[in-house]
Amino acid sequence: MLARAMPQFETNFFQSVELHSADEMAALGARVAARLRPGDTVTLAGPLGAGKTVFARGLIRHFLPGEEVPSPTFTLVQTYETGNFAISHVDLYRLKGPKDVRELGLDEALERGALLIEWPDRMGPELPADRLDIVIEGGGEEGERDDERTVKIIARGAWVPRVGDLSA
Ligand SMILES: Nc1ncnc2c1ncn2[C@@H]1O[C@H](COP(=O)(O)OP(=O)(O)OP(=O)(O)O)[C@@H](O)[C@H]1O
Ligand SMILES: [Mg+2]
Repeated sequence: MLARAMPQFETNFFQSVELHSADEMAALGARVAARLRPGDTVTLAGPLGAGKTVFARGLIRHFLPGEEVPSPTFTLVQTYETGNFAISHVDLYRLKGPKDVRELGLDEALERGALLIEWPDRMGPELPADRLDIVIEGGGEEGERDDERTVKIIARGAWVPRVGDLSA
């Protein structure tokens, strides 16, 4: 009974981190990169302009310093070869739901390496169960225009035992 009522406490890891600049967001991405393995999924949620792409850029540049890493808003999927495995950076903003997402072939991308997904809500229940969810608060249109962000980090499944402290 108890386990069913509170599954998060047994299977998930939660951390909240306060960031004060885009550089700190990129550095958080790089710390996640150091833990990344092929087959991993990292989701990036938060309002427009929250810093999801900044995080992704920091993560990808851990493997490929100086890489441009544009927002995949229009290409939808942008794939980077890191040497050991591929990282597919995905932006689902313009898609309507899981049916559209299926056509992107993300299963195949996951077989080749890791997935970094902006606007993961578009995938609904098709999101892999083992994943690291990054939820960025602040930076949205209605909020004050400043550099402060609160980042909620939720590790699920296979991510739990290896995520560790991501605060610094
Ligand atoms: N603490 C911060 N973390 C991340 N970005 C920040 C921070 N402070 C300011 N910024 C700025 O906010 C903007 C974030 O843009 P970014 O493209 O990463 O947002 P996004 O969440 O990917 O938006 P979209 O939903 O449009 O893809 C950048 O211009 C960045 O310099
Ligand atoms: Mg973006």
